[in-house]
Amino acid sequence: MKRITKAIIPAAGLGTRMLPISHAVPKEMLPIVDLPAVYYLVKEAAESGITDILIITNRDKDAMEDFFDLSIEYEKALLAKGREADVKMLREIADLANVYFLRQKETKGLGHAVGRARSFVGDEPFMVLYGDDIIFSETPVCRQMMDVYEKSGKCVVGVKPVAPEWISKYSSLKVAPTAWSDTLFSCDDMIEKPKKGEEFSNYSILGRVLLTPDIFDIIDALEPGAGGEYQLTDAIAKKARTEGILALDFEGERFDMGAKIGFLKANVVRGALHSETKEEFKAFLKAFVKTLD
Ligand code: UTP
Repeated sequence: MKRITKAIIPAAGLGTRMLPISHAVPKEMLPIVDLPAVYYLVKEAAESGITDILIITNRDKDAMEDFFDLSIEYEKALLAKGREADVKMLREIADLANVYFLRQKETKGLGHAVGRARSFVGDEPFMVLYGDDIIFSETPVCRQMMDVYEKSGKCVVGVKPVAPEWISKYSSLKVAPTAWSDTLFSCDDMIEKPKKGEEFSNYSILGRVLLTPDIFDIIDALEPGAGGEYQLTDAIAKKARTEGILALDFEGERFDMGAKIGFLKANVVRGALHSETKEEFKAFLKAFVKTLD
C-alpha cells in the first residue's frame, strides 16, 4: 500500500461568516492566541508524517505564504536584540514541511478547490484538511485516519455527531458499525446540507478526509450541488455508494475557525493553556464569569 506523504489544505473560500474581518484578513490567518489557524493544520499534518502540503488559496491570501517563509531582514533585527529563541521558533515553523501554494482562481466550492490539486497529488492517496477546521487532539487526527487507511486501504472520512438542529448546515452520513472499533463505521451513502427528512444520521464529515487519487475523475465529472457549488461531499458520496468508505469518529476537539463562535472558543481554550497567558487569563476568566447572568 502506498504511504501517505501529501496533504491539501483548501483555504480559498470567501469566509463570509467571518465578515467583516475576512474582507481584509484571510480567516486561516486569524490567530489562536499567537499562531494562525493554518499553522495548526500544517503542524498536524507534519506530525502525522506528511512531508508535502499544498495550500489552495486565492489572490487575497498572500499572508499565508509569508507566514511559512523566512524573513532574513526580520531575523537580523531579532538577532540584533538578542532574540535567538524567536529566530529558532520562526525557523522551526518554516521547516515544518514543504509547503506549496496554488490559487483556485474561481471560488466554485470545496470540490473544485480539491480538484486543482490533481497534478500535485499524482497517483497517491492523500489527506485533505479543511482550512477552517482546527482540531486539538492527543494523536494528530491525520495520523488517526492514516492508521485506518493503512489497515483497510479505503478512503476514510473524519466524522462527529452534530446536533440535529445543525445537521442541515453540514453533511449527513449513512453509517453502520464495524468489528474494528466503536468509533469506526462503514459508510455507503451521504448527503451535503440535507433538507429536513433527507438526513441519514447525525454523523457529519468535520474537517478531515483521506482520499485515493481516483477521486479526481469523480470531481471532474461533478455537477454543481448544494449552494450551486462543486461539493467535495458529492464526490465522496459517489465513492461511498460504489465501493464503500470508512468513517472515523476521531478523538479530538474541533473548532470551526470560519465562525465567530469557534474562533472565540479556540482562543479561550488555548489562552488558558499558553505559558505566557494562562495564569492571568484564568484569573480574568474566573472573575469575568461571575459577572455573567
Ligand atoms: P467553507 O464553506 O467552510 O468556507 O469551506 P467558506 O466558503 O469560506 O465559508 P463561508 O460560508 O463563506 O463563511 C470549507 C473549506 O473549503 C475552502 C474554505 O476556505 C474552507 O477552508 N474552500 C471553500 C475553498 O478552498 N474554495 C471554495 O471554493 C470553497
